[in-house]
Amino acid sequence: MNRVISFASGKGGVGKTSLVANLGTLFSKQGEKTLLVDADWSLGKLGILFGKKPKWTIDQVLKGEITLRDAATEVSPTLSLLASPSGVEGFEELGETARQQLFFELDGLKDAYDWVLLDHSSGIHHGVLPFAAAAHQHVIVTTCEPTSYTDAYAIMKLLSKRFGVKEFALVVTMAGDRAEAGRIMDRFIDVAHSHLQVRVRLLDIFSWEPKMAEAIRRQTPFVDLYPNSDTALRLEKLSQSIALAVPAPTNGLRFFYQDVVTSNSL
Ligand SMILES: Nc1ncnc2c1ncn2[C@@H]1O[C@H](COP(=O)(O)OP(=O)(O)OP(=O)(O)O)[C@@H](O)[C@H]1O
Ligand SMILES: [Mg+2]
Repeated sequence: MNRVISFASGKGGVGKTSLVANLGTLFSKQGEKTLLVDADWSLGKLGILFGKKPKWTIDQVLKGEITLRDAATEVSPTLSLLASPSGVEGFEELGETARQQLFFELDGLKDAYDWVLLDHSSGIHHGVLPFAAAAHQHVIVTTCEPTSYTDAYAIMKLLSKRFGVKEFALVVTMAGDRAEAGRIMDRFIDVAHSHLQVRVRLLDIFSWEPKMAEAIRRQTPFVDLYPNSDTALRLEKLSQSIALAVPAPTNGLRFFYQDVVTSNSL
């Protein structure tokens, strides 16, 4: 049974895709079979970070041209990537039937991978929320700017009120001053706890890393380019704490999804 982790944010450009690409690379290097799902339905670009131009996308899976299992692009023997189409209008608002089909197909892969990491588009689309809600762990990515954590709060509010998600993990990126960011996030977590009755665990705060952009330009994961840097070591620690934080699930994605759709009326 694999473990499914969702990476979401309210505001865009906070570093979700970079995080997913690097964590996926680290899991796969530990011999864990990992599938990265580009759930940025209409502007998928996860493949770019690995210098891959996937032959198949989720769009073709939904059209029945290929099975989801065969649509995954191999990045390495233990790392695969399921791409989203880029520039397909309206794809972010997948209909209920299409969404359900995708969930069931993903669930069918539960014995093929140890980890499934979902890289969402930013914001609060109907296409994002049920997918995000069905995961075993919910990682919210934010910077410590008010515009970013206010949006992070909004997405947690929706996930908790509409989908009953009560536990979140938080990753802060691009911090100028990590101590100051820590103080801001402590307050943020207190507010979320008292207003939303959710538990938020701060996993880590990443400093502004100028070489992250270079990794994207060179289409190589940061942890491969600079494996001994402070940021890469922090990413490695993060991968370990995520692995420890997510207990081996007894139910797959399908179970959670059915639970999610029956408990609210999207
Ligand atoms: N810790 C960091 N320090 C500095 N820059 C970063 C950091 N993490 C990511 N970036 C940069 O921020 C930009 C956005 O990153 P990325 O695409 O990973 O964000 P995203 O949240 O997935 O964006 P979107 O919401 O558009 O999908 C990239 O140029 C990346 O290089
Ligand atoms: Mg992204």
